[in-house]
Amino acid sequence: MRTLLTKAVIPAAGLGTRFLPATKAQPKEMLPVVDKPAIQYVVEEAITAGIQDVLIITGRGKRSLADHFDRSFELEYYLKRADKLDELNGIVEISESADFYFARQPEPLGLGHAILMSKAHVGNEPFAVLLADDLMAPNSTVLSEMMILNQNTNKIILALKEVKPEEISMYGCVSYKETENANVVKITEVVEKPEPEAAPSKLAIMGRYVFSSDIFDYISQIAPGKNGELQLTDAIQLYLQDHEVLGYVFTDGRYDIGNKLDYLKTNFEFALNRPDLKEGVIEILKDLSRRYL
Ligand code: UTP
Repeated sequence: MRTLLTKAVIPAAGLGTRFLPATKAQPKEMLPVVDKPAIQYVVEEAITAGIQDVLIITGRGKRSLADHFDRSFELEYYLKRADKLDELNGIVEISESADFYFARQPEPLGLGHAILMSKAHVGNEPFAVLLADDLMAPNSTVLSEMMILNQNTNKIILALKEVKPEEISMYGCVSYKETENANVVKITEVVEKPEPEAAPSKLAIMGRYVFSSDIFDYISQIAPGKNGELQLTDAIQLYLQDHEVLGYVFTDGRYDIGNKLDYLKTNFEFALNRPDLKEGVIEILKDLSRRYL
């Protein structure tokens, strides 16, 4: 009987340099999308997929992340007294819906290194990694499909999405072989941020992974690359020499918040999907386009 996946790891210790100065004193993962920090959407996605053990890898700005998922009795008392019960439920619910753990990455030495910080917590179990740069559409089933695929095959699963050729140099890219399942590919190579002419395909690795615990051995073996960072793609490439890795290809919504323009677009789109905000946002967009276009 294979071990059921119960743990999610969310690396949140990067420097977020593309978002300075907003990220000088707070993690990028705490930037709000409409009215929730980005990381909360990702935590909710993990919970929806059935995961209740969430390990957040933190570096600088640890306090705000830990405080956000902790109970705040003072605030709760105030909201109760002010009869702001919706707001009260909103903040209590997320704190109670999972068990939160924190591990510290002493230096931002890359995504591979950040994941290595989860080794003691994860033990010998499979685990999911979710990057809070990438938000999935509400009700996305990508993570749960990946977990089922891992459960059925015992293999590492990467989330893949087709991107425009000119965008591939922002992502890890894969070469692959098709399988009898249209959503599943067998990955043969991973290349970090290739130039469009050198990219082996249009399939880019998105920020959702299901790993088996033996990935830690491979991360430990790779040499630091650019800026002394341990690149996760290097570890996956090494892993591929000994094991099969599968890709789960999805087409539905995925929103980037790692750079300023996509972050703004994500905010508008999430707000347009909220019945309480939709009309107001449409009015704002109409007004702005009248004045600026
Ligand atoms: P990114 O490369 O997108 O994040 O890493 P970054 O380095 O913070 O951003 P820029 O490029 O400087 O603007 C993807 C995810 O991995 C985490 C980040 O916090 C982000 O969620 N990460 C990255 C770590 O936890 N530790 C690291 O050493 C690097």
